[in-house]
Amino acid sequence: MTDHAAVSDFVVVSNRLPVDRTDDPEEPWRRSPGGLVTALAPFMRRTDGAWVGWPGQAGVELDPFETDGMQLVPVTLSAEDVELYYEGFSNDTIWPLYHDVISPPRYRREWWQAYVRVNRRFAEAAAAAAADGATVWVHDYQLQLVPKLLRELRPDLVIGYFHHIPFPAYGLYSQLPWRRQVLEGLLGADVIGFQRVADASNFARSVRRQLRYDTKATGITVPQPGGGERLALAKAFPISIDVDDYVQLAHSPAVRARAAEIRESLGNPKKVLLGVDRLDYTKGIGHRLKAFGELLDDGRLDVEDVTLIQVASPSRERVDAYMQLRDEVELAVGRINGSVDTVGHTAIRYLHQSFPREEMVALYLVADVMLVTALRDGMNLVAKEYVASRIDNRGVLVLSEFAGAADELGSAIRINPHDIDALKDEIVRAIEMTPAEQGRRMRALRRRVSDHTVDDWSRDFLAALDAARQARS
Ligand code: G6P
Repeated sequence: MTDHAAVSDFVVVSNRLPVDRTDDPEEPWRRSPGGLVTALAPFMRRTDGAWVGWPGQAGVELDPFETDGMQLVPVTLSAEDVELYYEGFSNDTIWPLYHDVISPPRYRREWWQAYVRVNRRFAEAAAAAAADGATVWVHDYQLQLVPKLLRELRPDLVIGYFHHIPFPAYGLYSQLPWRRQVLEGLLGADVIGFQRVADASNFARSVRRQLRYDTKATGITVPQPGGGERLALAKAFPISIDVDDYVQLAHSPAVRARAAEIRESLGNPKKVLLGVDRLDYTKGIGHRLKAFGELLDDGRLDVEDVTLIQVASPSRERVDAYMQLRDEVELAVGRINGSVDTVGHTAIRYLHQSFPREEMVALYLVADVMLVTALRDGMNLVAKEYVASRIDNRGVLVLSEFAGAADELGSAIRINPHDIDALKDEIVRAIEMTPAEQGRRMRALRRRVSDHTVDDWSRDFLAALDAARQARS
């Protein structure tokens, strides 16, 4: 409100800020992990607004500050908040439930209470950062109650919400003991954005079944507390990347030299396959390793000719399901390498690390085949980054039909990661694909990715919010 010192006409709210606080005095801030930050940071650098979020470490209290052209407003989370709200409800209840229960969600009342409490804190921080009549854009599953809480605090605001992960089918969603509260929380927004049309319709169905509100096409009629009603829009706005950034990096002589160096260091294999994921059970890393290991065992691939580079960046390391996954993946990698490696060649170069973008693009340039085998994924920006980086129109994208990106990237080799035999056949097909077919497919993929960048995504979403503002007056 106007009595606050620094208020903005445009405010973004997400669980994470684009940078994480570290304990390293040499490098006190590090880029935050994940697709949300990848997509939002370039947009926020060009936008004159504030970004409200958590600096990634428990107990850190900081005043608002500016970095890289962005005005950041830190929200403090105690160690208990991190355990119950972030690791618990966000990442051990909502995350597995919304990713089709690949891992069993845990429903704990204590976690829910912390989720409500912390969502309120984010709503209060956003309310304090927003000028009269400002636009506030809330992001992702950690903050589903913020739209409603914020509307109660500040009815003057125009509120958008974007959901970066899948929204599950009603039969799964209805497991959630707090299913009504979460729907009501989201419906506090004027515009609710999803990655895929299917996510938006899953949401609308849950609203009809649980709340009995009318939904027509993308409109949902929401009754108002004091009587009357308003219309909320629930619609797909598929997210994308800053394509020019990747094209530029792919042209950079330093990145190209690094790509050549990587290939050399692998012993110049004929073909390099690549997987790039947060180490998450939704990504199908185990299925990918199984298919690749069997191809080597069967003799259809030879370790002298083919190497798989698997980047698995550390994620949510204190959540049980993630610890277990790490053990499984590392056991599988060790077993495969142990049985097929030669002194000069390794089957899987496994990297449990995160890398700067320059190194990622060098890896994309090295990769003859990119493997995206997610069991469920909101979008998967890695698929788009690979395509944007292939300025030579070569390389093959193998893409799971369970990633949101599959709706757009029809010229990829489409796979069902659960079907290991088919996955093996498609990996071999990708490895053997002629340059002419690679070119034909890659050009089509590149056209699609360039036609719909992260700027188009944010422009479309903000235009919908503007229309909501017009409709109010
Ligand atoms: C996904 C989610 C983001 C999240 C990111 C990294 O992309 O949609 O909301 O920030 O993963 O996960 P983390 O738990 O480290 O924030």
